[in-house]
Amino acid sequence: MAHGGNVIKELTTDHREVEGLFGKIRKAPAGSAERRMLADQLTMELVRHSVAEEQYLYPAVRDKLPNGGRMADKEIRDHGKVEKQLKELEGCAPGDRRFDRLLDSVEREVTEHVKDEEERLFPALAEALDARELNDMGDAIRRAKRMAPTRPHPSAPTTPPANKLLGAGVGVVDRLRDALTGRGTKRGAAAPTPDGGSRREPAATKRATAEWTAEGSTYAQLYEEAKRRHIDGRSKMNKKELSRALSRG
Ligand SMILES: [Fe+2]
Ligand SMILES: [Fe+2]
Repeated sequence: MAHGGNVIKELTTDHREVEGLFGKIRKAPAGSAERRMLADQLTMELVRHSVAEEQYLYPAVRDKLPNGGRMADKEIRDHGKVEKQLKELEGCAPGDRRFDRLLDSVEREVTEHVKDEEERLFPALAEALDARELNDMGDAIRRAKRMAPTRPHPSAPTTPPANKLLGAGVGVVDRLRDALTGRGTKRGAAAPTPDGGSRREPAATKRATAEWTAEGSTYAQLYEEAKRRHIDGRSKMNKKELSRALSRG
């Protein structure tokens, strides 16, 4: 199924792609670099998809559907559970037993969540919104995915406006780190794991990320991010100091 069309078609296409990635991971040899690369691709897809849903789909569900608030809260809770597991998976070597356990758990959670969206939430949304609204939301979701973070940030805000404000800034940093480390590609999968499983990024990557943060973010964005990470002394820091503290954390 190709991308495009209304919000339901776009998100359903994502769901099928994610299922395809689970299938490829199962076929890749246990403990292989290919498995690591595919798990990174899966994480990138799931994070982008979830962030876009949290920015545009769930607010509409909350507004337009009877019982929408409860439905949206449940879906956001599901995302939170998966995101925590993806964060753990990010630091896991593919030969580690935890890697397979976490993948199994992510697949179970995602399968249940997708079923709930496709069988309960999408049909209700198709009833409540007209064709133009569904198409417009499809466009908004595609735009959001292009800007969204690609790495799990389990403690980031999940509801507007804070998620929209921070999402784009965090997304640029994530994409820069991905480009520099080759994450989700053969180059990234072959990177050494010097600390016994958890993957370290080269110092040059961290420096480049920090430099971008200083140039590309406003003081307010940096301060919000510092608050989210509970960085001590943030209220007395200037922009440069905030940037330095964030790059250390
Ligand atoms: Fe979802
Ligand atoms: Fe979804």
